[in-house]
Amino acid sequence: MADVSFLLNGETVRLDGIDPTATLLDWLRDTRGLTGTKEGCNEGDCGACSVIVTGGDGTPRALNACILLLPQLHGRAVRTVEGIAGPGGELHPVQKAMVELHGSQCGFCTPGFVASMAAAHSAGATDYDDRLAGNLCRCTGYAPIIRAAEAAASAPVPEWMAEDTGLLGALDSDMPTTADALAEWYLANPEGTLIAGATDVGLWVTKQFRALGPVAFLNRIPDLRGITVTEDRIRVGATTTVAEFGSFIAGHHPGLAEMIRRYGSTQVRNAATIGGNIANGSPIGDSPPALIALGATLHLRRGPDRRQIPLEAFFLEYGRQDRRPGEFVEAVSFPRQPDRLKCYKLSKRFDQDISAVMGAIAITVEDGTVTAARLAFGGMAGIPARAAAVEAALTGQPWTLETVTAAARWMGEDFTPLSDMRASAGYRLKAASNMLLRYFHEDRGTAVNVLEITA
Ligand SMILES: Cc1cc2nc3c(=O)[nH]c(=O)nc-3n(C[C@H](O)[C@H](O)[C@H](O)COP(=O)(O)OP(=O)(O)OC[C@H]3O[C@@H](n4cnc5c(N)ncnc54)[C@H](O)[C@@H]3O)c2cc1C
Ligand code: FES
Ligand code: FES
Repeated sequence: MADVSFLLNGETVRLDGIDPTATLLDWLRDTRGLTGTKEGCNEGDCGACSVIVTGGDGTPRALNACILLLPQLHGRAVRTVEGIAGPGGELHPVQKAMVELHGSQCGFCTPGFVASMAAAHSAGATDYDDRLAGNLCRCTGYAPIIRAAEAAASAPVPEWMAEDTGLLGALDSDMPTTADALAEWYLANPEGTLIAGATDVGLWVTKQFRALGPVAFLNRIPDLRGITVTEDRIRVGATTTVAEFGSFIAGHHPGLAEMIRRYGSTQVRNAATIGGNIANGSPIGDSPPALIALGATLHLRRGPDRRQIPLEAFFLEYGRQDRRPGEFVEAVSFPRQPDRLKCYKLSKRFDQDISAVMGAIAITVEDGTVTAARLAFGGMAGIPARAAAVEAALTGQPWTLETVTAAARWMGEDFTPLSDMRASAGYRLKAASNMLLRYFHEDRGTAVNVLEITA
């Protein structure tokens, strides 16, 4: 049971002894009668349930209410479509523009679109294709919706929206609020479930109806969050969201930031954490290959004990990681380095799709010779893994097409991928080899991305 307090459409809500796995969406609709927020997929894919959540930093963000558990809201402000309109029923500028520019037909998706659009409007963001990639509309088509977002952009943020800032932080909580307290709690409850962004765990609840037992919510622990840059390393706290990491890393490794733009959707990136993306051990998680290619170290903690391992050593085999009972991910760090990283996410859809293959390649060339090569792939094995034979075939060789073509043939030594609904084994092997060729051509300045080629 958990005690939770947050602002809902400007009004303080305190809930005592709630089921910690209750979702915001169910609570809004079933308990509060706020049925404007819709249920489509109930798994984070469609955006019909989007709401705006403002945290301690005062930034309003769109999140999917269907996989947002009530304790994740503690100390935050939530605005549903009912609260996006003003207290006297005045329409928000994005709502007005949606009406005037015919942005809605059946209307089922509209509250979710309005939430995403209003969050973007408050942030002054105009990258609408990215902002709305997590909102699906079956009937209107996106052009009128984007036109509405553009039309509303210059209108001031309504004053009722600004009231959500400046709250919070100092509310009572009955759960761990420091990394030390978490370490103690997890040691005492090694069978318990840690919940970070809940973009995986939320689905265990909504799709698998799993009972989670004792839970700890990591978003309440500020010392696990944030990015620290020292002279020679970058350290990313476990609960740093994928969105936060994406914005930060653009200044260091733009290829990784571009890949993150295609990680889930805005709503998913605003919730999902880097620690969760590693700890879940998924063979198709997008950040592990990139971090492995950067030479990352994983920082693990169990009670008072800390240890560090190369990130790739964490993944033992499908479904099994090098993590002891009561041990959790505190952070991941990697050396500061000249940018040689390129990330190639191959999926059926450009946006909001899980990778069939995710290749991350960092090759250092000095005086025409390869002096270091790190290639890591997702989707090629039961775990994210390095292509050791390909790396060996590249290192010490001249940086030429011949070397690269010969090295790419070793991909079959490194990996025996599976065939599944995303790709066949043969396609995966071919695609991974071609990613290395693409890296070479891109390094030579050739346009390799269809989006870069204009007539
Ligand atoms: C619609 C949708 C789209 C998605 N798209 C992508 C995508 O494009 N690419 C991709 O890689 N993933 C994608 N995912 C998967 C998901 O976003 C990631 O795996 C995510 O990073 C998990 O992080 P989280 O914070 O939400 O983890 P949670 O769901 O909170 O936790 C996941 C697991 O990790 C454990 N855990 C979390 N934090 C820690 C910690 N610090 N220490 C130890 N254990 C911990 C939890 O106990 C749980 O077992 C998508 C998910 C959804 C729902
Ligand atoms: S209902 Fe589809 S994302 Fe939540
Ligand atoms: S208006 Fe019908 S789904 Fe978008």
